[in-house]
Formats: sequence, C-alpha cells, structure tokens
Amino acid sequence: MPNPKREKRRNNGYSFVVNYLTINGGVRLSGRVQISGAKNSALKLMAASLLGHGVTVLDNVPRISDVFTMIEVLQRLGATVAFEGNTLRIDTSGEISTVAPYDLVRRMRASINVLGPLLARSGHARVAMPGGCNIGNRTIDMHEAGLAQLGVKFTFDHGYLEGIATKLIGKKVLLDFPSRGATENLMTAAVLAEGVTVIENAAREPDIVDLASFLNSMGAQVWGAGTSTVEITGVERMESTFYRVSADPIEAGTFALAVLATGGDAELAGAQPETMEIFLEKLELAGAEWAPIDDGIRISGDHRPQAVDFATLPYPGFPTDLQPQMMAYLAAAEGTSIITENVFENRFAHAQELVRMGADIRTEGHHAVVRGVRRLQGAPVKGSDLRAGAALVVAALGAEGQTEVHDFHYVERGYEDFAGKLRGLGGDVELVEETTSLSI
Ligand code: UD1
Repeated sequence: MPNPKREKRRNNGYSFVVNYLTINGGVRLSGRVQISGAKNSALKLMAASLLGHGVTVLDNVPRISDVFTMIEVLQRLGATVAFEGNTLRIDTSGEISTVAPYDLVRRMRASINVLGPLLARSGHARVAMPGGCNIGNRTIDMHEAGLAQLGVKFTFDHGYLEGIATKLIGKKVLLDFPSRGATENLMTAAVLAEGVTVIENAAREPDIVDLASFLNSMGAQVWGAGTSTVEITGVERMESTFYRVSADPIEAGTFALAVLATGGDAELAGAQPETMEIFLEKLELAGAEWAPIDDGIRISGDHRPQAVDFATLPYPGFPTDLQPQMMAYLAAAEGTSIITENVFENRFAHAQELVRMGADIRTEGHHAVVRGVRRLQGAPVKGSDLRAGAALVVAALGAEGQTEVHDFHYVERGYEDFAGKLRGLGGDVELVEETTSLSI
C-alpha cells in the first residue's frame, strides 16, 4: 500500500513515492547503537497528555511516523504540538474536541488510546474504529466492556464508536485477556473517576508501567502497574507534566537479532535488560552471549544459532512484536525450531517472504516449524506490517547477496532512522526512494 502522505496526483493518474531498503548481507555488525524511546510508550503518553490543562513535555520521543500520526490526532483535537529533536511539547490548555476522525484513526490502532482521556476530560468521545498493522482481528470489545462498567454508555454508528459518561465511577473490572490497549484506556479514564477502580488481569508490559508513572507525575494515584492488579483512586484534576520515555525493548531486541544474524558484537546503549528477560534467555539458549554494561547491554555471537522453541504470550512472556525478527534469526539456525503465536491469529505473513529467501518454514494455524538452513539468500521481498518488515531486514543482514525490502514505510512506523543506525554499526544498507506510477 503506498504511503498516502506521499501521493501526488498527475493528469494521467497518480504517482507514489515509496521507500525500499537495499541490504548487502554478510557484513558483520559491530560498534554501538543508541536505542530510542519506546514507540508503544510514547504514543500512550501523548494520548494521556489530554488529561492535563497545560503544557506537557515528553523527552526521548522517537521520530517515527506513528508519532507524527499521533501528533496529527492531537492537533485535530485542538492541542498545540511542537516537536524538536526528540522533545515533544503538547499544549492542551485550549478547547479540546472529542471527535477522532477516521482518516487518522485508520492509519494507527493506537489512536484508540484517546478514548479514555477524552471520556475522563469531557465525558464524551466519538472515535472511528481503529486500523493499524495487518496482523489479525483486533477488536476493541474489552475497551468498551471495561469502560461501560465505569459508567460509559456506548453507541456505534457509521464506523464510529461514541461514548458518553455524565459521571465516571470507579469499579472492579476483570479483563478476559490482559489487553494492553484496554488496560490503558481503563487507566486513563479511571484517574478522574469517582472512587477506586481495580483492573484485574491487567496487562503488565513496560509501557503500562511507563503510563502509570506518567499519570502519577500528573497527580494521579495509580498503584500496582507491572502486576496483574492495577488500582486507581480517582482524583479531581490532573496537571501537565514533564516525562522521559523509556527505551524501546522491541527496538533493542530487533538490533540484538540484527547483530547476531551477522555473527557480530555490539553495544545497545539505553537497552534495559530487565524488560527483555525471556527474550535474552532464548538468545542464550540459541548460543548467543549478552552482558549488562553501564548504560545498556552488549550482545555477541560468532556462530550459527542453535534452534530454539518459543511461544508468544503477554508480558512477561515472549513478545509477539519480536516473533517475526526471531523467526528470521532462527531461519538460519542449526536444527528445527517450533514457534507458537498466541497473541494474534494471523502473524506469520513474514514466513512466506523468508521462504523466498531460501528459508524452510511451514506454518499450520498458530504454529510455525522452522527447519534451519545454512544460509539465507538475498531476494526482493516485502514486509506486510511493521515487525514483518524488520524481520526481513534481520534476515537480509545475515543473508548472502543483496536483498530489497519493499513497503518499507511499515518499518518507518516504528523504527527511528533504522537505515542510519544499521550503517553506524557497519551495515551495507541504503534507503532508496522509488516513484511508482498508476495510470487511470
Ligand atoms: C499492543 C501493541 C502491539 C502489540 C500488542 C500485543 C501498542 C500501540 N501496540 O497492541 O504492538 O503487538 O499490544 O502485545 O502498544 N483484543 C480483543 N479485544 C480487545 C482488545 C484486544 O480481542 O478489546 C485482542 C486482540 O485482537 C489481540 C490481543 O487481544 O489478539 C492483544 O491485544 P492488545 O494487547 O489489546 O494489543 P494492542 O493494545 O492493540
């Protein structure tokens, strides 16, 4: 899908500028790379800034296209936003609208994170049903059911979900599944509710902890984030704040695999090993080495990995957002790995592309059997979502010959200057702009 932002109308049709990445594989990565702030924290904190009535300053915000989409969402709602370097200033002191329109929400599922803050601030929200990566059915029934228990009345019309709450009242809410998005919308609604809200079976990801710390710095009273029970005592008012976004564990994991796929040795500055435990354990089982350093981790491995089985699960389980990249690494392992995807029902699209690079992978339902081959071969491939694209880059770095990863705009949603950072580690990588024409 061409990036709509780069679409240019011409007399006889349309032309689209799309990026692809060329990678000459087999170059050993080494040195040091700075891990950026976490996409999945930054987006939630940006949405939650709507709870304040002044200027919120967020530092260490990655310059990625999803952040620019969320900036547009906030601006459309009436906030004034400035983004310099990695510092974002969000002024919510003016009038804030409560309608999040389809043209923005369809581009990014995380736009749904404005639902909780708008309901808490204004008692009303009209939000288009979200879009996002093509990785399976992603409904928001748990968001709705949880918020309804706090007193929100929902209706659905013409593709929009509309919620009205004359008063939010704290309740105990038991989630069917530890959904991150549902946990976040409940937290951001409950901070201004009357009384105490207890979320049971809450998501425990590091971005939930980041969101709780951020909300508390605004004056909220949130306890237990990072465990399965989050308790929130409602307060009267939230103030704007300053907050530094934590490092991105998924970006760190992706770089770890990129380095290992080349038999390299590098420091991942800013990476927080305590948020990546099961992933690092699996790397050890594959024969890689890692060690904490002062400000991050060092990762190395100069031989072919051993096959490893793993299953994705909500945190602290193996993250689904690293499953494609780990599959790419294991595609060239010694032995057979069994991968089980438990979070999304349709997250193996990258397997077919890896097969085009010479991998031996069979998928059956939510299982994948990866029979390691000695070496992958460069090929033209395309990523169908953010992490699938990143996985193809990992595969290409270790492969023999040249790979072109097309539809690279998906990767740009979540990785800040991916090509530049890989080049900084010695990678032979180039971002190419291509104009594609469509006649009418
Ligand atoms: C977040 C992450 C995404 C990651 C995912 C799982 C952000 C912006 N995105 O997405 O990168 O892959 O967590 O770790 O943080 N579900 C329902 N009903 C709901 C909510 C969720 O059925 O109301 C299902 C989803 O379809 C999915 C699973 O629950 O199968 C996990 O969803 P959830 O944890 O909510 O993921 P997101 O917050 O959308």
